[in-house]
Amino acid sequence: MSLLELDNITKSFGAIHALSKVSLTIQPGEAVGLMGDNGAGKSTLMKIIAGNFMPSSGEIRIENKPVAFHKPIDARNAGIEIVYQDLALCDNLTAGANVFLGRELKRKFGPISMLDYPAMYKRAGELFAELKSETRPRDLVRQMSGGQRQAVAIARTRLSDPKLVLMDEPTAAISVRQVAEVLALIKRLKETGHAVVLVSHRMPDVFDVCDRVAVLRRGTKVADKPIKETSPEEVTGLIIGAIEAA
Ligand SMILES: Nc1ncnc2c1ncn2[C@@H]1O[C@H](COP(=O)(O)OP(=O)(O)OP(=O)(O)O)[C@@H](O)[C@H]1O
Ligand SMILES: [Mg+2]
Repeated sequence: MSLLELDNITKSFGAIHALSKVSLTIQPGEAVGLMGDNGAGKSTLMKIIAGNFMPSSGEIRIENKPVAFHKPIDARNAGIEIVYQDLALCDNLTAGANVFLGRELKRKFGPISMLDYPAMYKRAGELFAELKSETRPRDLVRQMSGGQRQAVAIARTRLSDPKLVLMDEPTAAISVRQVAEVLALIKRLKETGHAVVLVSHRMPDVFDVCDRVAVLRRGTKVADKPIKETSPEEVTGLIIGAIEAA
């Protein structure tokens, strides 16, 4: 049974056709690379899966059941977590508070319910350690490097035990060492049965961790192939349009 099926998803923003009849299937535990030039529709597709946008038409099915995500919490409740391209962190909060944003731990003192910061910082610290990140839970996100911010955004997806993690350009703005860490994390997610969709412009990342690659060009899916049956040259040709479809 497929984890996720997108069936003829179309999305328009006024006169802009961001996606035209895109179908995509994700199996449990599979890592799929989603590639395409700027404006090809990658982030729009991720946001539709994550419940940020409703598609203009088309159907989404999770484990064969049609679903309609009206808001991000609906997708989260269905086992889907996302790391946004802009990371969507709150600069004025600590790393730990960002990890728990919207899912704060509380403690009861008699009739009073209070945020349990010690517990949140402790759990956030464990998640950063798992990610081999030196991010400290009590540091403000405003003062952090790109890689540390990435670790905060990824740690946030690990709070629940999602079936599918969507990552929109997780390695675009970070150091070589941190890229290796993020790729290692994706492999670990896969080993533990999680599916991953990796949006990336970086061919080596996709060929390193993905089982399959799908290519969008101007809102249309032009290829969807096992990674073993394609090459960086072919994928580049598909992205820029030198190869029509494969
Ligand atoms: N909220 C929005 N309102 C209007 N148009 C939008 C919106 N979001 C995306 N678009 C348009 O939809 C198209 C696809 O954009 P999208 O962000 O999905 O591309 P992308 O493949 O993620 O590109 P990049 O590699 O630059 O991140 C673009 O033409 C973009 O301008
Ligand atoms: Mg994008």
